[in-house]
Amino acid sequence: MKKSILTILIGLSLIACTKENTTVQEQPSTISEPVLPAMVANYSQPNLPPFYQNGPVAGADNTPLNNPVTDAGATLGRVLFYDKQLSANGTVSCGSCHQAINGFSDPATLSLGFENGLTGHHSMSLANSRYYANGSFFWDERASSLEAQVLMPIQDEVEMGLSLSELVDKLENLDYYPSLFQAAFGSSEINSDRISRALAQFVRSMVSVNSKYDLGRNQVNAPTDNFPNFSTEENRGKQLFFDPAIGCAACHGTDAFIAPGARNNGLDADNSSDLGRGGITGVTAQEGVFKVGSLKNIEYTAPYMHDGRFSSLEEVIEHYNSGVQNNPNLSPPLRLPGGGVRRLNLSVADKNALVAFLKTLSDDVLINDEKFSDPFPES
Ligand code: HEC
Ligand code: HEC
Repeated sequence: MKKSILTILIGLSLIACTKENTTVQEQPSTISEPVLPAMVANYSQPNLPPFYQNGPVAGADNTPLNNPVTDAGATLGRVLFYDKQLSANGTVSCGSCHQAINGFSDPATLSLGFENGLTGHHSMSLANSRYYANGSFFWDERASSLEAQVLMPIQDEVEMGLSLSELVDKLENLDYYPSLFQAAFGSSEINSDRISRALAQFVRSMVSVNSKYDLGRNQVNAPTDNFPNFSTEENRGKQLFFDPAIGCAACHGTDAFIAPGARNNGLDADNSSDLGRGGITGVTAQEGVFKVGSLKNIEYTAPYMHDGRFSSLEEVIEHYNSGVQNNPNLSPPLRLPGGGVRRLNLSVADKNALVAFLKTLSDDVLINDEKFSDPFPES
């Protein structure tokens, strides 16, 4: 008898717990204040290696002339990025779905919005966003600039759920903002243009230059030279990555490892499930075409692709090795010259070498850098 009451009680509390997890998160009763360093951090003058300062990487920089990164602007951007008050019920910040330890992406296949709704796609990593040459953002490139992009999640009805005027009203009632806007823009006025510019500066300052790849690249003349700090396997993987017959570098190019534009990489044979870029432009040849961010920190940003369909880098490599589908819009590097789909027929050792190489793109300095971390103590 006693035992069964206990069982019922445990059962009830289990139901209560499960229920708690599935209901909408409550607005926290106290609002915490950000803790910022006494000296403003350096965002505006990153220590860039020569292969970022000149050549194709520098040429791809999408920073607009009217919104260069400033230290005070990016500091304000950092606070905004991690502030849950940017969502309708105070539960979600940009950092909820772009977590530093996950390469500023989300380990969940689809992310949870402020009322526990699901996003339509997998969250994107943010490192080297600055070097996407055409300056468009999202998997389908629907935002024509980073300044336009950063206001969209705030207004998205699943993600954060605020109108721009509600956003401005909310920030005006938080006493830590006037001095941050003053420092960034010369007056304490809060408006959506300033919010957009500060957030874009913060995201653009996430430049990745401290991976094992960067350290090796600094010691040689060309990416295709053997790197002294690499294992034999990592150098083999690098050779394969840059080999035109394999093709990775054609689409994940430059030392910033970012694509020159959106492409179709043969995930599906037809595009009925997701039109990608074509859904925005109405152009048939762009159906199933998607953007991809930099491969920097790819080790940490699983699951992979716009829908998070692959859970490991091994699955991604197997896709390129044997799984590419004959999509009508398949990008030429993945096609055979006469039509049809290319198969790589890689050995197990070469597949492992490609994975080992991709892991040299991990930048632990970037993801652990205090200036990109959450300044709110209790979140
Ligand atoms: C609820 C989760 C969620 C929140 C909150 C969120 N994001 Fe995102 N973010 C995503 C997802 C999912 C995508 C990809 C969406 C798509 O393409 O349809 C994305 C894409 C992006 C991109 C595009 C990257 C690229 O290379 O094109 C940027 C930049 C970005 N988010 C910044 C932000 C900022 C800044 C905020 C806060 C104002 C924010 N995000 C809030 C989930 C989120
Ligand atoms: C024709 C251009 C093209 C080629 C060649 C190519 N990729 Fe990709 N890659 C893409 C596109 C486009 C995506 C994103 C597709 C999507 O999500 O719909 C992508 C996605 C990825 C991702 C997942 C990125 C993420 O954030 O989820 C990895 C990892 C990757 N590719 C590695 C490689 C490797 C390794 C090779 C060489 C074996 C390669 N790619 C060859 C275009 C290409």
